[in-house]
Amino acid sequence: MEEQDTVAFHVENRIAWVKFNRPEKRNAMSPSLNRRMMEVLDELEHRDDVGVLVLSGEGTAWSAGMDLKEYFRETEAQGLRGVRKSQRESYGWFRRLRWFQKPTIAMVNGWCFGGGFGPLFACDLAISADEAKYGLSEINWGILPGGGVTKVVVDLLPMRDAMWLTLTGDLIDGKQASAMRLVNESVPLDQLEARTREVAENLLKKNAVALKFAKDAVRRVGTMTYDEAEDYLVRMQEAANFHDKTEGRKEGIRQFIDEKSYKPGLGAYDQ
Ligand code: ACO
Repeated sequence: MEEQDTVAFHVENRIAWVKFNRPEKRNAMSPSLNRRMMEVLDELEHRDDVGVLVLSGEGTAWSAGMDLKEYFRETEAQGLRGVRKSQRESYGWFRRLRWFQKPTIAMVNGWCFGGGFGPLFACDLAISADEAKYGLSEINWGILPGGGVTKVVVDLLPMRDAMWLTLTGDLIDGKQASAMRLVNESVPLDQLEARTREVAENLLKKNAVALKFAKDAVRRVGTMTYDEAEDYLVRMQEAANFHDKTEGRKEGIRQFIDEKSYKPGLGAYDQ
């Protein structure tokens, strides 16, 4: 398979549908896939015709985690230079996705293992198929969940759940993942795409600048004191005001107070 083909994507009605595309390898993340994913994110991030990105997987897997042969064994054979390079490539696109300019949704259609928790966490929202299966299989082949994965589960889950998944390698399905808050919600596989589209279309109605500043704020304030967060949020709103050339907040107030054409409590203003 050509490196180019390890990721598939198309843009339709302002939604970028991006897919891990190594179904025959259960979408395991190889160095080729990691490099290609960075290029795809690069291409999509600032396109005017993209408002939301959805990340899913071709075939029966979302992603079976890092490719044990190509990402671990073959890079280790190249020594530390090879290992660090492949780590930079994978962590690089996970980070790029975490701070992506547009809101992102993980649409988890199947297997999600180990390193797959990196991009799962990087996506702002996550919708799962009930049939999907999640596991920290690292312990099953003798390592700890590295590459940020332990941090992901500790940030997203209560300590007992994080510890259980980490120490047992047990699988959970989409409904359990939703109950644990690893994902926002879980629906039957045959409704997964429609539900994800509905969520994406709702996001598309919102002010795009506000979405970017809001998603960053949610990730940033977690490690701040209250006073730091208060100050940061004041500054970020001022920065958002500068970046929003449509002056959306004024328009939003105008349509409510003067025009009485919508109610902010019930939906977004007309852009
Ligand atoms: N790395 C490398 N190759 C993989 C991976 C992986 N993570 N996952 C699947 N493959 C390959 C298999 O070796 C097999 O290759 P082959 O056809 O050349 O023999 C092919 O994908 C299909 O895999 P099967 O095991 O036959 O598929 P099945 O649907 O029966 O099982 C499952 C799917 C459960 C995902 C299984 O493949 C599996 O356990 N994969 C490993 C999951 C894992 O532990 N990932 C690593 C997490 S730890 C980390 O990411 C740091």
